[in-house]
Amino acid sequence: MTAVRSPRRMARLAARLRRQGTRVGVVPTMGALHEGHLSLIRAAVRQCDVVIVTIFVNPLQFGPAEDFARYPRPLARDLRACRRAGAHVVFAPSVKALYPERFQTRIDPGPLARRWEGNSRPGHFSGVATVVAKLFGLAQPTDAYFGQKDYQQTLIVRRLIEDLDIPVRIHVLPTVREPDGLAMSSRNHDLSADARRQARVLSGALRAARARIRAGARVSGPVVAEMRRLIGAQPAARIDYAVVVDAKTLLPLARLRGRVAILLAVRVGRTRLIDNLLVDVP
Ligand code: PAJ
Repeated sequence: MTAVRSPRRMARLAARLRRQGTRVGVVPTMGALHEGHLSLIRAAVRQCDVVIVTIFVNPLQFGPAEDFARYPRPLARDLRACRRAGAHVVFAPSVKALYPERFQTRIDPGPLARRWEGNSRPGHFSGVATVVAKLFGLAQPTDAYFGQKDYQQTLIVRRLIEDLDIPVRIHVLPTVREPDGLAMSSRNHDLSADARRQARVLSGALRAARARIRAGARVSGPVVAEMRRLIGAQPAARIDYAVVVDAKTLLPLARLRGRVAILLAVRVGRTRLIDNLLVDVP
């Protein structure tokens, strides 16, 4: 496995792979790798000739009051995990290398990026879209792997590649969970023991909502009310949003039909967690 720090070296390596007609899979991450990330890397290894994992804590996607400085950066451990998962290249540039002083372009991903996560974290998806476009430009993948855990992000990346004609195939893999249902996230480690127990309510509320829809619920009101009741019963939990939306447009649905997404963002203690489930309404 090769570790690459310089964007120029990454671009040269990518150009060579392209000329050889190699199927190149990219797995963009911010590091602090867990089983969720590793599931993406393993899927890429199964499908591609060369797998590039990018590790970059992207300042553009953090708000001023967010945890950019505190975000974990266990690079040596991440490199070992990538090697064990079968990755061929790890691209881990510095902030200065990716965003030199003259850097000024931002991608505006449009209305989809202003709902839900985008409403709570202004500018977040512009930062995501900008860095993903740069990583695609440098690594020139044929395939890219993302997790359903960040569902809104997957829609924005799909829109980005279609709107900007970026020739890459997107794969979205299922959310990997802890045994008690909590979606894996590097932010889970910030939870106190008590908050960690209460954090189970996110996946619990999602499953309860899905069960109601499967049992025949066709309006969102009672489904959302049930989620709010369950989450409200946890003293350290504060709902940011809990909604049932159209899975494509992310617009709220009064009547449930087609594929719907149940989206949650909840603060448990000081840690903000997100999770989601997709349900096909029969
Ligand atoms: P990060 O949070 O490190 O996540 C990297 C990838 O891993 C994303 O596609 C995310 O959806 C996926 N992932 C995270 N937790 C997961 C889980 N429990 N199960 C399955 N997949 C999971 O998302 C980002 O980084 C950044 O926004 C990035 C795309 C790298 C741009 O900076």
